[in-house]
Amino acid sequence: MSQFSYKAGVLHAEDAALSAIAEQFGTPTYVYSKAALLANFAAYADACQGRDALVCYAMKANSNLAILDLLARQGAGFDIVSGGELKRVLAAGGDPQKVIFSGVGKSVEEMRLALSHDILCFNVESIPELHRLNEVAGSMGKKARISLRVNPNVDAKTHPYIATGLKANKFGVAFDDALATYRTAAQLPHLDVAGIDCHIGSQLLDDAPLLEALDRLIELIDQLSAEGIELHHLDIGGGIGIDYRVEGEKAPVPVGDYLGRLFAKIDAWRTARHNGKGIKVIFEPGRSIVGDAGVLLTKVEFIKHGEEKNFCIVDAAMNDMARPALYEAWMDMQPVVQRDVATASYDIVGPICESGDWLARDRSLAVEAGDLLVMHTAGAYGMTMASNYNTRGRAAEVIVDGTVPHLVRQREKAEDLYALESVLK
Ligand code: LLP
Repeated sequence: MSQFSYKAGVLHAEDAALSAIAEQFGTPTYVYSKAALLANFAAYADACQGRDALVCYAMKANSNLAILDLLARQGAGFDIVSGGELKRVLAAGGDPQKVIFSGVGKSVEEMRLALSHDILCFNVESIPELHRLNEVAGSMGKKARISLRVNPNVDAKTHPYIATGLKANKFGVAFDDALATYRTAAQLPHLDVAGIDCHIGSQLLDDAPLLEALDRLIELIDQLSAEGIELHHLDIGGGIGIDYRVEGEKAPVPVGDYLGRLFAKIDAWRTARHNGKGIKVIFEPGRSIVGDAGVLLTKVEFIKHGEEKNFCIVDAAMNDMARPALYEAWMDMQPVVQRDVATASYDIVGPICESGDWLARDRSLAVEAGDLLVMHTAGAYGMTMASNYNTRGRAAEVIVDGTVPHLVRQREKAEDLYALESVLK
């Protein structure tokens, strides 16, 4: 059930009218539903009930402290990709011992910070990274728990920019090199070989590629076990997609169904080959936790009739939501107040000085200047990918809980944007 629905002709987030939120906080504003966020997390938590499993929310999707706090209270761990993200987890009161650290380019400083907080695991992506981590941990008198990100060479059948599990990608250790890399890791004195991970891509509508990746991880875990290297966890990454309401596109598999199939496979394997001994399972979902829990609320500045096209110029732009410009992503747009004016076809564009600054194309809308629009399913990879291009302050963020909108990030002011700059003396 969507938490964004029309009530008496006005689009609401839960029980708060988006028109009232625009009036109170201005536009553009990201508006999230607390109930939707918690329901999305519960879909994972419920399927993991009674099992040795940990959901590490991939906070690159949306790292607002209020969202991290709400998820941490539900028992979430976090998948981080920078020292900055670890600091956010700490600031939000998250447990560093439920943090896993992904990414191909971890710096010495980031490793130190993560080790000093005793994070759960480093997801290592290369041999040089193993050596660097071993050295850093040694210099601190510590042992770093590691997992190797293995590239299972599975085609995730998603957009090339967000497919990560193929041979041509920069991510992970090649499947064929994995055993040798584990042997190297096992010999380094300041590393503790704990697990295996992968992430084959994002916005997968089907779970078949994920289950195929799981098969490949299982194969490796058994081979390692035969060599005396016992892994304690397996981390299948993120990736299950969400419904962007694209016409003609099939809906993604429900999280519960995917997890059911995944656990069934794991249980059958452990029964057949490990005397029923379990293995901890880690997930790194991002988009499926926050994506449909948020919208981007924007105001129509002008309607412009061009020679070939009509433009609906809004106050949100590619700096607020980069997905259309970057990936040609199709995002659903709706008016906040359904009104009785003629419908026309519009490109919905922002004020930025680039032709690539568009949010949606060829949309049939009944709008006038001054109206409010929302972009749906904007909770993931929206605010976290926002920039200050054209010296535009980033949008405000609001979380709705029932009837109450809470401001969880103030709109940036121009002065904030140049506060760290200085002129030559
Ligand atoms: N784990 C790792 C190692 C990842 O690289 C990612 C996403 C995730 C987990 C979370 O994946 P999810 O559950 O959200 O699919 N900006 C793009 C998406 C980039 C995804 C990058 N990695 C977009 O807006 O579509």
